[in-house]
Amino acid sequence: MASVPSLASTLHQRIADALSAALPEAGAADPLLRRSDRADFQANGMLALAKKLKGNPRELAGKVVEGLPTGDLIEEIEVSGPGFLNITVSDRAITGTLAARAADDRLGVPFKEHPGATVIDWAQPNVAKEMHVGHLRNTVIGNSVVRLLEFTGEKVISRHHIGDWGTQFGMLIQYLIEHPHELDHKDGTSGEEAMSNLNRLYKASRALFDSDEEFKTRARRRVVDLQAGDAETIALWQRFVDESKIYFYSVFDKLDVEIRDEDIVGESGYNDMLAETCRMLEESGVAVRSEGALCVFFDDVKGPEGNPVPLIVQKSDGGFGYAATDLSAIRDRVFNLKADTLLYVVDTRQSLHFKMVFETARRAGWLTDDVEAVQLGFGTVLGKDGKPFKTREGETVRLVDLLDEAIERAAAVVREKARDLTEEEIADRAAQVGIGAVKYADLSTSAARDYKFDLDQMVSLNGDTSVYLQYAFARIQSILRKAGTAGPVAHPELALAPAERALGLHLDQFAATVAEAAGEYAPHKLAGYLYQLASLYTSFYDQCQVLSEENPAEVVENRLFLCDLTARTLHQGMALLGIRTPERL
Ligand code: ARG
Repeated sequence: MASVPSLASTLHQRIADALSAALPEAGAADPLLRRSDRADFQANGMLALAKKLKGNPRELAGKVVEGLPTGDLIEEIEVSGPGFLNITVSDRAITGTLAARAADDRLGVPFKEHPGATVIDWAQPNVAKEMHVGHLRNTVIGNSVVRLLEFTGEKVISRHHIGDWGTQFGMLIQYLIEHPHELDHKDGTSGEEAMSNLNRLYKASRALFDSDEEFKTRARRRVVDLQAGDAETIALWQRFVDESKIYFYSVFDKLDVEIRDEDIVGESGYNDMLAETCRMLEESGVAVRSEGALCVFFDDVKGPEGNPVPLIVQKSDGGFGYAATDLSAIRDRVFNLKADTLLYVVDTRQSLHFKMVFETARRAGWLTDDVEAVQLGFGTVLGKDGKPFKTREGETVRLVDLLDEAIERAAAVVREKARDLTEEEIADRAAQVGIGAVKYADLSTSAARDYKFDLDQMVSLNGDTSVYLQYAFARIQSILRKAGTAGPVAHPELALAPAERALGLHLDQFAATVAEAAGEYAPHKLAGYLYQLASLYTSFYDQCQVLSEENPAEVVENRLFLCDLTARTLHQGMALLGIRTPERL
């Protein structure tokens, strides 16, 4: 189905037309239409325009009003103050546009006119290392942005740039050669077991590396074998990667995030390109040798003493680092995957790295004007004390522990609310509520900002939380079940109560909100919209009886229609954030 223009956008267009008819010399002028407390909308654009063209704003506003077509949309329009327009739309128009949205599976959200291809780099943990709270954000934000972009029709390719390469593997592999059964296990190892195996191996090999000079030498030689692609060494390295994946998948599963194996292309995936990347940079003069290392310099990147800080593409010992891999990945993503947008969901603490990498790729001609590269940088998760989140012992918090605690808290909330649920049902819902709470807290502030991880607040039933939204959804489902034979039917001929109008006008903004959130990679705008939707629904529910015997049948149907559309909008919106909406809570 074709997209459904919102009342706001239709109104905007009509006023803009009337404005250019009234004042042709103004060209295409913006009427600056906003929602308003006094009427439904206010248009302020006449003021600045009249001022600029030395006219009288009230007079201009009057002309605009005369030039507007009469019809179904506008109920009332008046010139007010120095030259604003206050506009009230008709109840019929509100219900009519909502009926058109309801008739569409996509709730009237259009596909982008010119969808492109985005490669998005997200959910990138490191092999043989525990996932910590920092990996929460790149997973949760990335997942939501993928869902938003796909919903607008963009072609999206995910890349999980996991840290699966580096000198630490020499030590691990050498240890495994000397203790060959340390990673053996039966099928069906849990993620938890896999991680504890890896941790044990890591600690044991580290201890040996630090205390035994001969082991250290063997481990270093092993790094050389690994880099040379020696088959036996690679096979052992692969076992570490596989063991880690068992663990990663268990965490992603707990987070209710789907990751596809073919999208996991870690640092090692670019090994074959590294030497060529360096050669191209050196030949084109983009990179130069400095004290043996291959470096790229920038006028505006300086250290504390004013000395230039280069991007090191190849170290003086010949080793390739993080930057060489990222530059090679850009070549792959642009030339093989044919991306026109490269998006990186990575901690803002890596912003300098990406700035230098992007700039280098531009100088090398790998990023052209047709390709946009964006780091969607996110801030730090803080503890209640406002410092980076740590355990009481001052250690980094394991992501699994944090998720388990959220689920446990959620179970208490669910248990308290619904007394007739089985233990299994409680566990199911606790997972949906607990994980939803963690995701929502992350997604409801703009990514770039730090936020406090506060479970008490996150699972609170009142306030800007996912539980509040999930309850609003479940409550509507219960009303729809109770309605029996009465169903949701739109009746545009009915007059609407103020709370119905407010809810309806907000529902009408869903498509515009999704477009904005997707276009700006800003899930928090969608979260804010949904919270307001649930609040407006709560006021509607308080002020307008839905299933009252005293209501005429059409009023019941029309209110059920508003309930149903609200539920569908909540469900779709939450799905775009990666959050479940249980039918019952
Ligand atoms: N593995 C890295 C980390 O844990 C994040 C990788 C980000 N992506 C990239 N293309 N550099 O910090």
